[in-house]
Amino acid sequence: MQPFSFATTAQILCESGSAVRLAELCRERGAQRVLLVTDPGITHFGLLDEVLPGFAAAGLTVAVYDRVQADPPEAIVLEAVALARTLDAELVVGFGGGSSMDVAKLVALLAHPECRQGLADIYGVGNARGRRLPLLQVPTTAGTGSEVTPIAIVTTGETTKMGVVSPLLLPDLALLDADLTLGLPAAVTAATGIDAMVHAIEAYTSKLKKNPLSDLLAREALRLLAGNLDTVVHNGRNREARQAMLLGACLAGQAFANAPVAAVHALAYPLGGHFHIPHGLSNALVLPHVLGFNAEVAAPLYAELAPLVLGSKLKPGSDAQLTEQLILELADFSARSGLPTRLREAGVPQDMLGKLASDAMLQQRLLVNNPREVSEAQALAIYQAAY
Ligand SMILES: NC(=O)c1ccc[n+]([C@@H]2O[C@H](COP(=O)([O-])OP(=O)(O)OC[C@H]3O[C@@H](n4cnc5c(N)ncnc54)[C@H](O)[C@@H]3O)[C@@H](O)[C@H]2O)c1
Ligand SMILES: [Fe+2]
Repeated sequence: MQPFSFATTAQILCESGSAVRLAELCRERGAQRVLLVTDPGITHFGLLDEVLPGFAAAGLTVAVYDRVQADPPEAIVLEAVALARTLDAELVVGFGGGSSMDVAKLVALLAHPECRQGLADIYGVGNARGRRLPLLQVPTTAGTGSEVTPIAIVTTGETTKMGVVSPLLLPDLALLDADLTLGLPAAVTAATGIDAMVHAIEAYTSKLKKNPLSDLLAREALRLLAGNLDTVVHNGRNREARQAMLLGACLAGQAFANAPVAAVHALAYPLGGHFHIPHGLSNALVLPHVLGFNAEVAAPLYAELAPLVLGSKLKPGSDAQLTEQLILELADFSARSGLPTRLREAGVPQDMLGKLASDAMLQQRLLVNNPREVSEAQALAIYQAAY
């Protein structure tokens, strides 16, 4: 067996309704002053209304930073760090989608009293040093899995994103409470759910670090996600299905945290960078075309995943035929969820495809994990196929 290493969040609490106990969980960790990092949508939809009163009841001080934007820029991270320092925060809670959770990770690190590094010092893999504040994550989308990954993604320029990857960013607790996701709009539900499926698929075919634990998690994640996505898109208030999606996204996050994602994400990132297409939708737009490209070498693995996605709909066949059914079914998830399925429908101008392909080549951190090598010309052909 190939040697491997596996790390994840120490505690996962999977229970609908559990967010009302958040203050209690902070107090158990010895914190008096807490900074909760979120975005304006979360406060607007009242998702904190039943959570915040618990802090006063538990005798804790809580400040809410609710200015996180999707694909958070550096300035937002720095503003949240400054607030944490002013408050002398002893614990950080990320409460929201991947954007809020990613900012919370960086705040926990950079607002630690002993931290001597700035944001610019820690981009890349393994550059963060020292310690961080205790960090609890409460996802309100079933998507990124950021609650169990050692990664935070920041928008660094007009169109560029950079990642901080460090074991220090792995949170202490992931709290999975489906009640917070009951009102998630259908389009966000679909896009974030497909993002999570991509995490499971790319972990399963990850070239360098594929490992038996990630495989196990990816398979169960895909079963849960594919089995419940239609239900949550069309009946968002189904609590059972919402809890299954949160768990599925969390398991997929654990899988790809240890067997990293690849070309689907590498080709998706420039779409977010240039056109602010949400992360999940960017992935969904290129997904069938990247899998079609990879099939030449990855069909045996895709064939293993096909039954988990198609269930009883799967018709027996060769690896290539099973892969084809998998790809069609994944494309159909987007179509029947009402998401755009072509780049042209998502507002991408055709004359930008060359620029997208050259930008995708910059994502070597991800491309090295792809089962098949991707050249710039092949990336362009994939974007053209997706157009
Ligand atoms: N750290 C990682 O491992 C990792 C992995 C993949 C992506 N990411 C990053 O995560 C971000 C994307 O995260 P995301 O897809 O979760 O979206 P998001 O956090 O950007 O949120 C998208 C929108 O959904 C709204 N929303 C969230 N939960 C809601 C709810 N329960 N009800 C109503 N509205 C709600 C938010 O207000 C926001 O407007 C990107 O910045 C991406 O780069 C990180
Ligand atoms: Fe993703």
